[in-house]
Amino acid sequence: MLIELLHLLATPVPFAHRRRGYLRESVMLLSRSRRCRAAWAEHLDRSRAAVIAACAALPSRRTAIVLGSGLLQDVPLAHLAERFAAVHLVDAVHLWPARRQARAFPNVRLVTADLTGLLDGGDPLAALCGGADVDFVVSANALSQLPILPLDRRGAVPPDLGRRIVAAHCDGLARLAARVCLLTDLEQVEEDRAGRITDRLDLLHGVRLGSPDRTWTWELAPFGEAARDRRQRHRVAAFLDWRGR
Ligand SMILES: C[S@@+](CC[C@H](N)C(=O)[O-])C[C@H]1O[C@@H](n2cnc3c(N)ncnc32)[C@H](O)[C@@H]1O
Repeated sequence: MLIELLHLLATPVPFAHRRRGYLRESVMLLSRSRRCRAAWAEHLDRSRAAVIAACAALPSRRTAIVLGSGLLQDVPLAHLAERFAAVHLVDAVHLWPARRQARAFPNVRLVTADLTGLLDGGDPLAALCGGADVDFVVSANALSQLPILPLDRRGAVPPDLGRRIVAAHCDGLARLAARVCLLTDLEQVEEDRAGRITDRLDLLHGVRLGSPDRTWTWELAPFGEAARDRRQRHRVAAFLDWRGR
């Protein structure tokens, strides 16, 4: 609790992002990732391996951009920083553990931005990743997170807002000239201790992505994390070349 409070007080974050809950969500993610370290290890390894495979054969390695870099747990930061001239880490919030990791590499830069475009308008991906020197873009397990806080807002929310946010991110990635690696969870499956499925949730609001290069299961909430007799598992997909899929 004390650590969480320190992060809430000491993290530099634009007021609009703090007000919309991005800092709180990020601190909760950090705490959960620590509690679920063992259960998440395979998912994080597989995510990092997919990023490394996606950029392995690139002929040019000027700028790499990681969208939804967050806590940098699924990002092979040292690998990217050694191979690319510059690495930009983009997220609504950068907590201190990620800031410290980034500081170890002089060619790594933090960019605080809203990936939905709801705060600033326009096409955020074109603005962030459309530069002529950008050779590689990773969307790092952020797609399913993008609609969560916008849909949580009080007041009237357009019924198809979740689908529109997901589709806009996918389309924005497809318009980029760089090689794009898309990592995303697709579906949440809740199970009881007998292995019976008790709930399913489409995390992408009806948007279908086609056939991924790799898939795996992320044990997001093992028994005892969200509920004593239920666990939540996410189906995850990796597209190593999103435009060329
Ligand atoms: C599940 S985390 C991704 C994991 C992350 N790559 C890591 O290694 O820790 C989702 C990330 O998306 C970010 N995010 C959610 N909505 C966002 C938005 N509208 N703009 C920018 N980042 C956002 C969150 O802050 C969070 O860091």
